Formats: sequence, structure tokens, C-alpha cells
Amino acid sequence: MDQPPGTRASVGHAAPAGLDATLEAADDLLAGARDVLDANWTGSYTRPSQALYPHQWSWDSAFIALGRSWHDAARARLELETLFEAQWRTGMLPSIAFDPSAPAGAYFPGPEVWQAERCPAAPSGRPTSGITQPPIHARAALEVHRRAAAAEQSASLEWLARLYPRLSAQVRHLEMGRDPNGCGLAAIVHPWESGLDDSPAWDRDFDRITVPPGALPPYRRRDLDHAAAADRPTDADYARFLYLLTLEREARYEDAAVMAGSPFLIVDPLFNAILLWSELALAEIAGLVGADPAPHRAASHRIREALIRELWVPRRRRFSPWDVRRNRREPEDTVVSFAPLLDPELPPPIVDAICRELESPSFHPRGRGPHYIVPTYDERAADFDPERYWRGPVWLNTNWLLWQGLRQHGRERLAGEVVASSLQLVRRSGFREYFDPLDGSGHGSDRFSWTAALIIDMVMRQRRAATQG
Ligand code: SER
Repeated sequence: MDQPPGTRASVGHAAPAGLDATLEAADDLLAGARDVLDANWTGSYTRPSQALYPHQWSWDSAFIALGRSWHDAARARLELETLFEAQWRTGMLPSIAFDPSAPAGAYFPGPEVWQAERCPAAPSGRPTSGITQPPIHARAALEVHRRAAAAEQSASLEWLARLYPRLSAQVRHLEMGRDPNGCGLAAIVHPWESGLDDSPAWDRDFDRITVPPGALPPYRRRDLDHAAAADRPTDADYARFLYLLTLEREARYEDAAVMAGSPFLIVDPLFNAILLWSELALAEIAGLVGADPAPHRAASHRIREALIRELWVPRRRRFSPWDVRRNRREPEDTVVSFAPLLDPELPPPIVDAICRELESPSFHPRGRGPHYIVPTYDERAADFDPERYWRGPVWLNTNWLLWQGLRQHGRERLAGEVVASSLQLVRRSGFREYFDPLDGSGHGSDRFSWTAALIIDMVMRQRRAATQG
């Protein structure tokens, strides 16, 4: 491991002045957020947004459930149960569970492109994609249960006990089926699995993928019907996304075959930090439902050691994604590097190094006038793009994850700044999918569910922390 940086990062430990008043005045935002969630509710789950994402997305539903649980625990529980009906027999939780009642062709690539039925492990009842997304679900389930009112305790505990084997199977699949070389970390085989599709974090690997002529039948991007082209991944990236999909489909979505053949094989710090955090949640859940927490604690320990051994790059003082094919640690400075803050036992010198970077002009250019945090990519990078999907904009879910990590390490001032910035963005531009960190303008979809859900969670949790002193 790296030598400890000489001094502690210059961060205070108290929330920023004025935050309590901002939170007190946030009732209208809470009402607006609930309204977004209700409008996107289908009866058994919540669409991420009405037009751009008209099906059930995996990590979206986890974020939505934990935000919704503050005011509607029953729907929060149903959201996760509905999602887990789409789980594969391998334990894989698919990134998308398609809704047969959505208009045909509303989203591309739809079930007819994925053809998940080629894999015998796919569920027969519901069409799905053939890849996964970050495994935040156990953490979400634990939070939903914690919000249950006294009168609902036994129903909530029964729900948690029903979900526990499925949540355990989800992480087991990643730990057993996706560890490419026994290193103790899970690999992703498609940028869509990261949740941060076109992040510069894997440009060097992804840009090398050439789509052979004729490999893709003609197609029309439906996303561009609902969002500006400048906000979305480029056509070149989209073609590569689809090409990887076709390779995985040909491998019938069998993990070993996909990993052996995929030109994209990345061990991502964010994906694995979430896996670790969910294992810690599973240890708590196991204790609540009468199961053995020890295997989950052991798994979290293994992941912690492997994250530091394999992904911490001492000379950069940063966690970096590992391109397994070329055995390189990618140098781009993106938000994925900060995610190991989710580990409450991350060594203090590493916490200091992460906070120092979060406070640097790359991610928090204080002297430059108004700006919003946390951009998803280094603002000083030549190809930083404040509007395009994961190549610069602020997203509420990465803000929420960092806020959680910072609070776990007692970094209340920086955590409070993340909340304050998130509230300002939503006040200025509405519940948009993502935001320009330079001017706060909103981009992508409007009335986006996880933005609404996570604002609820931030406000409610910070308010509760303030009253508890
Ligand atoms: N985020 C991707 C999309 O554009 C895939 O999950 O829909």
C-alpha cells in the first residue's frame, strides 16, 4: 500500500453552515419528488422515466426503493420483489426486466435483440437483458427494512427473509462466476454493467474495439427520440455497445464463455466497492433473519483486501479500473475511483487521499465561482464534457454513494456540500437525469425517478441526523 500522505486532507468534520436551513426549507422538493415517483409507478415497479427508460432497470429500482421507503414502504418492498422475479437461475440479476405492457419498440435494444431465452438459466416468465448492473440491492433492502414503521415490522421482516436467499445468490454469482483470475473481485463484461456506460474510465479499452463491417443489422436509436444527441453516448460508442451485446448473445450469456471471449473485461472499483458494501449489508440482514452472517463478513474482508491489492495504484494515489485483457490500470480520473469510500474500514491514509482528490480543482474548483459537485470526470481533462452522459455531468446516484461514503468516514463537511449541491441542482433544473457541473443546467430525461428518490433520502436522513445531534 502507499505511504500515508503527509497530512490529513484539509477537510472539516462539521456540516457546512446553512445546510440545516436548506434542509428545513425542502418540503416542496420532497412533495415534488414523491409526485415524480408516483407518476412513474406502474403498479408493481417504478420506471426510471416515462419515455427514455420505459421498463424496470436493476440499480434504478434499488435506489428508488430506498428513497420511496421513507413514505411508502409497501411500494418500496414490492419494487424489489418485482425486480427479483426476473433473477436468473445462476443468481444473475439482469440489468433490465422488460415490461410486456410497454409500447412495442419503445426502447432499443429490446427483448428481441437480447434473446435472453438462449440461456437456459433465464427466467421463463419475464423477458430480460443478458447482463447485470452494480449490486446495490442488499444495501437497499436493508435500508427499506430500517424505515419500516413499528406496525409493519413483522411484514417487513418476512419480506426481508424472502429476499435474503435471492440477494445472497446475486452476490454469489458475481463472486464465483465473474472472478476472471481468482483475484477476489468481480469483472464486468459490458460498459452497461458498470451503470456508467460511456465513462472515460474505460475509454482506452473500449475505443480499441472495432465493430466488423456487417456485424450489426441496421438499427434506429430510440434514445435519441427522447434526449438530445449531445447528452447521450456517441453513435460510435453505441455501435460498440451493440457489438458486445451480440458477442454475449452468441455465447448464450454463459459467464465462462462470455469472459473468455469478451474484448471488454474490466474490474471496476465502483462495482466492487458496491459489492463489498452489499456484503456488509447482507451480514446485517443475515443476523435479522436468523441466517449466518459469517460468510458475508468473510466475503467483505476478501473484497477489501483485493480492492487495495489489485486496484489501488500508489503512484497515482487512486483506485483505478483494471483492464484485464491488457493487464493495465486505467489512468483516467473519474468518479469510480472514489467509490471505495463505501468501505467503512478503508484505511485512513487512503480515505485522506480520496478526500484530497475530491477537494482538488479537478472535482471541486472552489476559486472559479459557482459550480456544482461532484462531476463524474476530471474537469481539467481535455475531453471533459459537462453535458454528455457519464463524461462529466453530476449524477445524483454517484453523489448519493459518495455522500454515504463520506459520512461513514466522518467527513461531514464535504458530505454536506454534496447534499447542498444536489439540492441546488434540483431546485434550479428539476428532477433531471444529470446536470452540467459548470452551470447547473439539466440534461437527459426529465422527471427521473432515482433523482427524486435520492433527494428524498438525502433530505430525510440529513434532517434526522440534525435532530439526533
Ligand atoms: N443505460 C443504458 C441505456 O441507454 C443501458 O442500460 O439505456
